[in-house]
Amino acid sequence: MDEAHLRARISEYREAFKINWPHPELSFATKANSTLGVLRIASEEGCHLDVASEGEFRAALLAGADPSLCHLHGNNKSRSEIEFALTNKIGKIVLDHFGEIDMISSLWKKEYATKLVIRLAPGVDPVTHAKISTGQSDTKFGFNITDGSGERALQKCLGLNLPIIGFHCHVGSQLLDPSAQEAGGALIAEFARQMEQLHGYRTQYLNVGGGLGVRYTDADVPMDILDYNRLVTTAVRNAMGRDDFTLGQEPGRSLVAESGVTLYTVGVVKSVPTSTGTRTYVAVDGGLADNPRPALYGSPYTVERAGSVSANHGQFTVSGRHCETDRLFENIALPNDLAEGDILQVLCTGAYNSSMASNYNRYPRPPVVLLSNGGDVRLIARRDSYDEMFARETA
Ligand SMILES: Cc1ncc(COP(=O)(O)O)c(C=O)c1O
Repeated sequence: MDEAHLRARISEYREAFKINWPHPELSFATKANSTLGVLRIASEEGCHLDVASEGEFRAALLAGADPSLCHLHGNNKSRSEIEFALTNKIGKIVLDHFGEIDMISSLWKKEYATKLVIRLAPGVDPVTHAKISTGQSDTKFGFNITDGSGERALQKCLGLNLPIIGFHCHVGSQLLDPSAQEAGGALIAEFARQMEQLHGYRTQYLNVGGGLGVRYTDADVPMDILDYNRLVTTAVRNAMGRDDFTLGQEPGRSLVAESGVTLYTVGVVKSVPTSTGTRTYVAVDGGLADNPRPALYGSPYTVERAGSVSANHGQFTVSGRHCETDRLFENIALPNDLAEGDILQVLCTGAYNSSMASNYNRYPRPPVVLLSNGGDVRLIARRDSYDEMFARETA
């Protein structure tokens, strides 16, 4: 992880947001990378933290974040998770279903300062992989606007005297076409305006989630951060007819992905016959346990040999060492003289890699190294040990 890059990226987003909105609230979606060293940097850069579980909230607290600057998401939060958040003075909880409103109401104590936000499903279908698309009506997240659930959720909260401050949506992830976020922002703002007309409820807070895409390969051309901020804030302002309230955004990937590079060591290089010729597999000392995204979404990446340059390139398939096909990166141009012991660097692996890593096949998770601002190299997560891998089990 490159600290200077991460800080610069957060500051670019923060400034772009500030130029476009009078009361901006930039959060970092910790699901993208919840390594404590990364959360500390995000907090130091002034980000609030979006946490999606008690574990992510605990990570934020351990990294030194102010709990009042954290907010809790989750489509199926447990009672104990909500209790932990409330007693540890979390800033906001984002409500996802009617049962959760009842649960919070039964746990509520008048000394709590936590505010509540209603997550809405605005009914927009973004252009992205189906597995990271969340804003359509057919979604497990939040309250539908179109079937009246959003309005009923607001009425229920108001009836129970809960401290509702506004509404939230997150329509999807890795969005290179931002029209879904623009539409999502406009729809929740329009909804908020209607709630004022119908119920006299004046919104103090809207959050349009995250989702801006990043450059995994040259084929990905994400929108410029300043243009993106202008687009989304304009949509919200126009639909709401005012901008005297706090607007939140909670990007993950677009803040942290490009600050990360994964290094693998090449092991065996093997050519096999295929129906059309041959395929050359390059096996590396990692795989779907440290980067499940290729297996989950077929995600492409930019892969290069680190160090020595060669003019002659061939086509290679980089495979992991796990007991699936575990083809990490297919049809990658790499030097023909690629050999055991070479180092491959995979770019743009700062988001949804370490946070999704597992011990599958009982491999220890890899370490994370921070190249710090002063040029030092600091280990911010060491490699798992076998002792800790087995510590929670008995034979
Ligand atoms: C509610 C919510 N907010 C924010 C994010 C962050 O999305 P991204 O990393 O694409 O910016 C996600 C991702 O799944 C999410 O579900």
